[in-house]
Amino acid sequence: MGNINNNNINDRETNDVISIENYNMITEVSEETFHDLKNLLATISGLTQLTMLKNQSEEIMTYLSSIIEATSDFTRVLNNYYDCTIGDHKQKEAYVLYEIIDNAIVLVKHKIRSFDMIKKSLCLNLDIQSLSKVFGYKYKLKQCFLNILINAIDSMEERGGTLTVMVYNNSSDTYVNVDIIDTGSGISEENIERLFKERFTTKCNGTGLGLKIAKNVVENHGGSLKITSKVNQGTKVHISLPIYNDCELE
Ligand SMILES: Nc1ncnc2c1ncn2[C@@H]1O[C@H](COP(=O)(O)OP(=O)(O)OP(=O)(O)O)[C@@H](O)[C@H]1O
Ligand SMILES: [Mg+2]
Repeated sequence: MGNINNNNINDRETNDVISIENYNMITEVSEETFHDLKNLLATISGLTQLTMLKNQSEEIMTYLSSIIEATSDFTRVLNNYYDCTIGDHKQKEAYVLYEIIDNAIVLVKHKIRSFDMIKKSLCLNLDIQSLSKVFGYKYKLKQCFLNILINAIDSMEERGGTLTVMVYNNSSDTYVNVDIIDTGSGISEENIERLFKERFTTKCNGTGLGLKIAKNVVENHGGSLKITSKVNQGTKVHISLPIYNDCELE
């Protein structure tokens, strides 16, 4: 098992696996919950405003104003959550895949820089040969690449290394491929088998969901995700997504 620490392996029950069906169901339930919460908040705010119209003491008016303020803060938090997660469903559009990956890279730059502080080097190699577009949910795709990049960087925490990101089309220009390659700790064959079957993690604070979510997102976009790895040498995550042509009907 190479340098994976057995004591940290958090091997949860196999029935914890999130299937695409479960993932879609969770999204649907979240959407309904979001909707219901917004209605309830509007009711609380409306009733509070009505109560304020009935000559209340100054003290009670202050409390009622605070309730209205809290409900509007709550609504703002909910809207923000919605925009970042569930609402992304409403924004299925054509995006240059590399731009999404670049957005994700920006979010891990601080992690890359932190290697300097511990006097280890993490070198980032970008090999961008394709600016092809994909059609889908930007936020979800960004999260998918973010999960994979974070895993790659985490795997090099002890020794530093090289993170390579390659974007290129297949020979018939029907798929855009992304390879995210690290020279980190690697994953044993036995553990690769477990990655998508159970909530497998070797991290103290890991959920063991990052890769499953990434795979679900890619598959929901008509693509595929494959992992190859060698213990102590590194890991390659290969993603392939269908290219979107501007002349296609949306
Ligand atoms: N690039 C990688 N190099 C080495 N091990 C990896 C790599 N990617 C994933 N792994 C292994 O697979 C496990 C599962 O990864 P996954 O992203 O699903 O969850 P996690 O990273 O443990 O938790 P979370 O994503 O919630 O932080 C990791 O704990 C790690 O052991
Ligand atoms: Mg992860």
